[in-house]
Amino acid sequence: MPPITQAGPYPPGPAEPVDMRRMRRDPLAFVTGMNRRYGDITSHEGDGERVFMLHRPELARHILKDNVANYTKANTPDDAMLRPLLGNGLLTSDGEEWAKQRKLCAPAFRRSAVTSFDGIITEETQALLDRWRPTLGAGAPLPVEHHLTSLTLAILTRAVLGVDLGSAGEGFGRAVDAANRFMGHYVPDPDPDPQDTALRRQGYVQARMFLQLVTRTVIAARRSVGGGGQAGHGHGEAGTGSLMDAMLDGLDDTGLRDQVLTLIMAGHETTAKALTWTLYLLDRHPQEADKVREEVDRVLGDRTPTAADLSDLPRCRRAVEEAMRLYPPVWLISRRATGPDTIAGHHVPAGTLVCVSQWVLHRHPDYWERPEAYVPDRFDGAALPSHLYLPFGGGERACIGRHLALVEAVLVLAMLIRSVRLELEPGFVVEPEALVTLRPRHGMRMTARTR
Ligand code: HEM
Repeated sequence: MPPITQAGPYPPGPAEPVDMRRMRRDPLAFVTGMNRRYGDITSHEGDGERVFMLHRPELARHILKDNVANYTKANTPDDAMLRPLLGNGLLTSDGEEWAKQRKLCAPAFRRSAVTSFDGIITEETQALLDRWRPTLGAGAPLPVEHHLTSLTLAILTRAVLGVDLGSAGEGFGRAVDAANRFMGHYVPDPDPDPQDTALRRQGYVQARMFLQLVTRTVIAARRSVGGGGQAGHGHGEAGTGSLMDAMLDGLDDTGLRDQVLTLIMAGHETTAKALTWTLYLLDRHPQEADKVREEVDRVLGDRTPTAADLSDLPRCRRAVEEAMRLYPPVWLISRRATGPDTIAGHHVPAGTLVCVSQWVLHRHPDYWERPEAYVPDRFDGAALPSHLYLPFGGGERACIGRHLALVEAVLVLAMLIRSVRLELEPGFVVEPEALVTLRPRHGMRMTARTR
């Protein structure tokens, strides 16, 4: 890296503008390097603007909680990427509009409400296990990351829309995939083949039209049978209490469409990544896998789990929590200062882009013992410093789906562990790739065998 800037109004950082093409080749090394080399609060020039990065929990807390009123999501890189598809839903709105939406949606996402989706979760997981069955004896490797993404999409579509899309579900899945592929990179790398970029963009535009059409159709069908007004109770399926139902009365059709797509896009890939990394880490740490297996066998035997079992599956939960520490599906949070501020003695001009990286905080050697090690027991209930562990973000804009995500991840994990033994294909290279979510660069190929 270039020399440290000593003078000037900005926090320390490279004196020269950062070569963003190089940075995007390994953003994780970049954010870690900024912290290690320049300290707790750093700044650099990238994409033509000055960017601040905060590398301590109390500084993260400052922008996410203590002085949250001075920070907006508007005009951040996330916003620019998400808004064309998600419009003005919970993830992308701000201010009063966001507060209104959050209040409307919150009851449906309470822990006590989302546990009622346990049946959908276990049914869909069983369907995946059934699809795997013919391959179990053969030991053929499966594209596990891909399968888990389809699984979490199927679960979330049913939970949000209240209907099983049936054969249209496949088209829906493909369209979500195309949209994800296009949006996966904050700024698409200049493609060696411009025709390829054009094709991907075209695929994205078509996918967006298809997703909006399907969503509008489901909304119209739901409205025509007079649903709605059930926020906070009566959740289940078959149109009698989906997440969407809770919002039918509070949003117009466009608002509802944006919200439905927001929930589906924000909720499925993240959860799939959490599960993928958990399975990977359990494979690499057989002793931890044994502890989880022992718990699942003892609590469930041959039984399918329900939400009532969740409190008896703490090892499953910790396995996921520790996986999200090491491999946070969302690895970067960005905000823009609306007015001037002071952080750790540094002046923050209005309009500055300010970022916090979970990748850095979750592996910060000042806060974690053996930060690189997979130790699920560190989540045994001991309190962590505020805003150190942020897989779901923090403050008022923390993830609304966090309870659902954990219920889902624990139930899916328990069912997989109960039925099969998953092992990484020998020689398969796993390395994290930081796109919008943190994914394994080459996917995750694992063999599944009957236990
Ligand atoms: C393991 C799974 C998940 C992870 C790691 C995750 C992570 C996050 C993070 C870090 C944020 C905050 C972003 C920021 O502050 O800029 C967030 C927000 C959000 N998440 Fe999740 N999420 C997960 C699952 C879900 C699920 C299942 C849903 C919905 C069904 C969901 C819906 C949302 C929404 C709507 C927001 C915006 C909330 C707001 O601004 O009020 N997420 N998520």
